[in-house]
Amino acid sequence: LCLLKVAMTPPLDSDALQTLLERLSNDASRCFNEGKVADYIPALAQVDPDQFGIAVCHVDGRVQYAGDAHTRFSIQSISKVHALVLAMQRLESDEIWSRVGREPSGQAFNSIMQLEVENGIPRNPFINAGALLITDLLVSRIVSIQNTLREQLRRLSGSPDIGFDEKVARSEMDHKARNASLAYLMQAYGNVHSDVDDLLDTYFHSCSVSMNCVELARSFAFLANRGVNPLDGKEVVSPLETRQLNALLLTCGLYDAAGDFAWRVGLPGKSGVGGGIIAILPGQMSICVWSPRLDGYGNSIAGRHALEGLVAGMGLSPL
Ligand code: DON
Repeated sequence: LCLLKVAMTPPLDSDALQTLLERLSNDASRCFNEGKVADYIPALAQVDPDQFGIAVCHVDGRVQYAGDAHTRFSIQSISKVHALVLAMQRLESDEIWSRVGREPSGQAFNSIMQLEVENGIPRNPFINAGALLITDLLVSRIVSIQNTLREQLRRLSGSPDIGFDEKVARSEMDHKARNASLAYLMQAYGNVHSDVDDLLDTYFHSCSVSMNCVELARSFAFLANRGVNPLDGKEVVSPLETRQLNALLLTCGLYDAAGDFAWRVGLPGKSGVGGGIIAILPGQMSICVWSPRLDGYGNSIAGRHALEGLVAGMGLSPL
C-alpha cells in the first residue's frame, strides 16, 4: 500500500510546480535572440515577439500559470485538434480515416509534394492539407462549423468571450495561394467536395481563434483526463478516442519536427504558428506554452525549451 501511494504521488506539489513555472518563465528571455514571428501571414508579424506564457490545467481542473499566460494570441494550427474532435464526435471512424491518413508526414506543415504522390489523401489531420480535408468532412455535417467550433472552445475553456480575429482570418485569405493549391489538388482527386473559397474561409477562421495559455490548457484538459472535461464533467471523446488522439499528437503534432520534439519532451503535443504549443501529460495535466518566435519548422523556440524544462524539472519520464 505504501509503495502504491509513493507511485501515485504526483512528482511535485503545487508550490514546487509554481516555483518551476516561474523559473521557466524567467528563463524564457534567453531564447529571445533566436527565431522570428510568422510573417507569411502579415497580421501575425505585428505581434510583439518577446513574450512568454505558460499554464497547466490539472485533471481536477486546477490551473497554475506564469508569465504572459493571460495574453491572447492566434491559436492557428492548434485548432486542428479541436476540428478533428468535432469530426470524431459526428462521423463514423471509416468516414474519416478513408479520406485522411494517420502517419507522420516528415514534410513541412504546408507541403504539397506528398499530396500528389498519394492521390490527394493527406498524411494526417494536423498538416494543412489534412485540416482542410477535416473541414470538408465537417461541411456535410454541421451547418455553421465556425459557430460550433467557437461554442466547443468556449465550453471546454469556460471562457464565454472566445472568438475569431477577423484581421488574421482576412490576412490569411489575402495570402491563400498555398492552402488554396492544397484544397484544389484534393478536389481534383475527388477528395474535397465543397467550394474551395468557402472551405478556406472556414479553415482560416478556425486558425484565427484568439485564446490565452490558461484557456488553451483548460480546453485540452480532457485529453489528460480520459476524454472528460474536468470543468463540467462531460465526456468530450471516449477513453479509446483519447488514446488515439494522443497517439496522433505524439507522432504528427509537430510536423517534421515531431521526432525531435518526442526526443526532447516526450509528450503528445500540437504547435501553431502563432507561437503556442499544447502538450498532454496523460492522467495528470494539460500544458500550454506560448512565445511567438519560431524555428524553421514553425514551432515556438522558447515554448519548446520550456516544455523540456518542465519535463526535466518535474522529474518525468513519460515514455
Ligand atoms: O494555414 C496556415 O498556414 C496557418 N493558418 C496555420 C499553420 C500552422 O499553425 C502550422 N503550425 N505550426
